[in-house]
Amino acid sequence: MDHLTDKEFDRVCTHLSRTFGLNMRSKRVLLDCRLSRERERLGFSSFSAYLDKVEAETDPEATARFVDLVTTHYTYFLRERRQFDFLRTTAFPELERSKPNRTWNILCAGCSTGEECYTASMIVEDYRRGRDLPPVRITGIDISKAAIEKARRATYQFAHVEKVPPRWLSSYFTNDGGNYTVTDAIRRRVTFAQANLNDPDALQRRYDLIMCRNVIIYFDGRTREQVLDSLYRHLAVSGYLILGHAEIIRSRTKFVYRRDSVYQKQPEAIIP
Ligand SMILES: C[S@@+](CC[C@H](N)C(=O)[O-])C[C@H]1O[C@@H](n2cnc3c(N)ncnc32)[C@H](O)[C@@H]1O
Repeated sequence: MDHLTDKEFDRVCTHLSRTFGLNMRSKRVLLDCRLSRERERLGFSSFSAYLDKVEAETDPEATARFVDLVTTHYTYFLRERRQFDFLRTTAFPELERSKPNRTWNILCAGCSTGEECYTASMIVEDYRRGRDLPPVRITGIDISKAAIEKARRATYQFAHVEKVPPRWLSSYFTNDGGNYTVTDAIRRRVTFAQANLNDPDALQRRYDLIMCRNVIIYFDGRTREQVLDSLYRHLAVSGYLILGHAEIIRSRTKFVYRRDSVYQKQPEAIIP
């Protein structure tokens, strides 16, 4: 198997940074491995020819596979459970007081294969029992076409739902020969779209709550700031932005840190 030369590696990193804001310079072995296999599979005689094809973006299938190969989709149900407890104990009761009659909008940015959105929907389903809540709309977006397709199917193998609490497994999934599919009641409030967070038009509406976990960690510094700015603009005042545990917002003019990587949007009036 041919390996990426320094020049080809640099070319891949430049393309990833320019197009997706991804900083993959520390991931040489991963890129080398995945892209070498892909180049061979597609029958390109050289990396240059393969990269010409990817950069030209004339073949949507090749572009989609490239994006899929260079991104990490690791996720699972109830990931960072304390953050979901925060929804139940803090964010939802606040929304219940401040927005008793209008739809609550939740965004999962970089939702991968859907587990995060469906977990949020299961938390909503538990929370709404015995309460008269307005509709809740959960939107999941991800740059990966394959991830979004899997999210829409909402079917997971047993290994993937093994740690889901038994009550959820029996109430919120149907089991069909070893595959577990999220029930309609949970899926109904969730929609998915393929979008690049690095694109200024990726977000269309204002959200009451945004989860963007384990996504900006892959971005270069400039993209990280741009994406945080965009999330800030699309978050309601006093709304919560939930990041992954390794992701930190240093500037405190826009967001105040609450706990467990949860930030709260500062009222716009006090921003200098
Ligand atoms: C590690 S997964 C995190 C999934 C989930 N948020 C979680 O914490 O379990 C990161 C996801 O971000 C997506 N992603 C990376 N860059 C993106 C971009 N520019 N726009 C939208 N999604 C992106 C990847 O495709 C991947 O599915």
